[in-house]
Amino acid sequence: MKKKYCLYLNNGINFHYSGLTYCNKLWQDHSFQKYEQNYLKIFFEKRESTLSDAKDGIYPEHCQKCLYLKEVDENFHIDNKIKFIEIYHWNQCNCACVYCSNRETTKLEISKGRKHKGVINLLDNLKELQKQDRLSKNVEISLVGGEPTILHEFPKLLKFFIKNKYTVNILSNGIFYEKYITKTIKTNPNSSICISLDCASKENFKKIKGVDEFDNVVKNIKRYIKDTKDLSNKVIIKYIILKGLNDTKEEIDNWIKLCISIGVTNFFPSIEFCHSVKNPEKSELTQEICDLYEYMKSKIKEYNSEYTISTYDFVEDIIKNHSYKIR
Ligand SMILES: C[S@@+](CC[C@H](N)C(=O)[O-])C[C@H]1O[C@@H](n2cnc3c(N)ncnc32)[C@H](O)[C@@H]1O
Repeated sequence: MKKKYCLYLNNGINFHYSGLTYCNKLWQDHSFQKYEQNYLKIFFEKRESTLSDAKDGIYPEHCQKCLYLKEVDENFHIDNKIKFIEIYHWNQCNCACVYCSNRETTKLEISKGRKHKGVINLLDNLKELQKQDRLSKNVEISLVGGEPTILHEFPKLLKFFIKNKYTVNILSNGIFYEKYITKTIKTNPNSSICISLDCASKENFKKIKGVDEFDNVVKNIKRYIKDTKDLSNKVIIKYIILKGLNDTKEEIDNWIKLCISIGVTNFFPSIEFCHSVKNPEKSELTQEICDLYEYMKSKIKEYNSEYTISTYDFVEDIIKNHSYKIR
């Protein structure tokens, strides 16, 4: 029996809005540990039992087809400390993106710092994990959703991450400029912000994101790039190719030109995947979209081979292996 390892199963925790789980990958099962009495304790008991099974080669069913479960060398050392923390414990946002799986529930929350009923205090949880000595020295945090800059604890959380020198990857819509994000990028190695701009015009932005904030977001991207100085490569700009909305070479070319004009050097091509993977029958992935994805990558490199192209492993996998139905 070959030894296997998964970064998320062995070393991950996901504070999801439905409860605690190991990962937030597309193939996850949904046996969340709800935020009810003693949830941390119960979660870690279940985790221990799962990891003990994993040592004997028995993995949760949803892990079987997941590309993050990898064969490793017999000598590969597996420890079970938490290295990867995904933060998705709420889903309020000041955008209503067409591709968002929480679009109907976000209620387009636009005020910053409002405390929401039923949302757990994350800082307390992270301090508790530290106290219980469950965290590795090299923790990597991903702030996945809703919009982090409007989360009431956000500045406090970032101060905590800065103090502990954790690597932090922040996904934001860029509507609010947050000075602690700049500070985190400058002080915590390998930290980044990724902003999903998804288009090159005010009109398309409104259609895709549901709000009239294109100019403001472009202005904030410029500001992050200026303020992070020689680390501006850690400001990553994303483009999700969406059928009928931004799926033309012209829009892609204009987006690349706009990004270059404001100093972007790290580009993130993507496709819509949440809805499609959950419901492959309604998948909007077409061969044209796959071709545009590859076109975007090569066009960026044509401008400058030194530019960084960030991608999701599983999107590359979907595109290359057509691992879900293509129309
Ligand atoms: C859940 S969003 C929310 C975080 C933040 N408010 C933002 O706008 O980036 C996190 C990331 O997932 C991406 N995303 C959301 N829904 C998606 C979908 N259906 N397909 C592909 N990417 C998606 C967004 O582009 C964003 O980069």
